[in-house]
Amino acid sequence: MKPHTITLAMTGASGADYTLRLFECCLQSNVHVQFITSQPGQIVVGMETELKLTGSPQKMRAQFADYFDADPEVISVYSKDQWTAPPASGSSVADAMVVCPCSMGSLASIAVGSSDNLIHRAADVAIKERRTLILVPRETPFSAIHLENMLKLARLGVVILPPSPGFYQGVSSVADLVDFVVARILDQLGIDNELSPRWGQ
Ligand SMILES: Cc1cc2nc3c(=O)[nH]c(=O)nc-3n(C[C@H](O)[C@H](O)[C@H](O)COP(=O)(O)O)c2cc1C
Repeated sequence: MKPHTITLAMTGASGADYTLRLFECCLQSNVHVQFITSQPGQIVVGMETELKLTGSPQKMRAQFADYFDADPEVISVYSKDQWTAPPASGSSVADAMVVCPCSMGSLASIAVGSSDNLIHRAADVAIKERRTLILVPRETPFSAIHLENMLKLARLGVVILPPSPGFYQGVSSVADLVDFVVARILDQLGIDNELSPRWGQ
């Protein structure tokens, strides 16, 4: 079922294009996005894209509304220390959470339930409430530590969705590769999309 609200967290791993495209697709599908980023996430998005996220959560919300040409009412932005924000509580409204991209540091924190910032706490809430939690881990190669953390979370029902695009459908641009991965995330969220050709159709 299509979610009404999702929590989208961006950590300091490479792959900001995935985050922004996923954000855009959720807004286009009228899904309310509760966005949280870490300080490294802000640095990486500034290095990898033209979006320079600065200032308070309210300013970032306005930046996103402008960037996506969207109604600010469908966007919430919380700072990583905003413990009173809705994603910190199991009684909150988010149907699902995506950490995209997910650094190995955040992966480890989520795997041990450290809840030391709002991203890790929101993920902990999603796990305890048995809600959809999708992690998009980015690193290569993976160490045994990374793999053990992913296996532990997968066994708890967390979707481990590495940004590994297929090339079999024909690729003509980087945007095609990004869309392949974002389509898989949207599928997991139950959000209809035609971003990437479907096998057999
Ligand atoms: C440009 C840049 C790219 C990075 N890429 C990755 C990456 O792909 N995967 C990763 O695990 N860490 C990566 N890092 C390191 C993380 O940002 C760092 O471990 C940070 O502490 C993660 O914190 P966070 O999970 O709270 O965002 C990168 C850092 C920079 C500056």
